[in-house]
Amino acid sequence: MDFRTACIVLVSVVALTCAEPVKYMDCGSSVGKVSNVDIKPCPKQPCQLHKGQSYNVNVTFNSAVESQTSKAIVHGIVAGIPLPFPIPIDDGCLSGIACPIQKERSYNYVNDLPVKTAYPCIMLVVQWELKDDTGKDLFCIEFPVQIVS
Ligand SMILES: *[C@@H]1O[C@H](CO)[C@@H](O)[C@H](O)[C@H]1NC(C)=O
Repeated sequence: MDFRTACIVLVSVVALTCAEPVKYMDCGSSVGKVSNVDIKPCPKQPCQLHKGQSYNVNVTFNSAVESQTSKAIVHGIVAGIPLPFPIPIDDGCLSGIACPIQKERSYNYVNDLPVKTAYPCIMLVVQWELKDDTGKDLFCIEFPVQIVS
């Protein structure tokens, strides 16, 4: 392996492993506090989501309430209009969270975001909410993505 090849390999490895935390906006986490959002793979932002692939989303948050259940709701906001963005498992208690959720504890919500091949190639904002027993948001985050083929 020559020097140039070695550099390319090194840069690729760094790009894959040193993914920065995703820049997100809090859209009203009324009964929780988000500390980190990770999307893999997302070597540069906004995250490019390739059609037919699935992306791993990891949201670290602290809960301010107790809750038996948690339910995720995902929207894709296109030109200001929120459209349902279906995910296979919407039960937060099956997505890395040990339920019942306790007060003042930190949790990692981990789930997959599948990108259907039928989606158009557009920029959009993903809005991801996790609701507690009473329908309040344990977290509500928004991050921009670009769907590419
Ligand atoms: C989710 O992110 C947290 C904080 O960065 C990390 O400690 C945890 O290992 C991650 N979990 C998974 C399954 O990637």
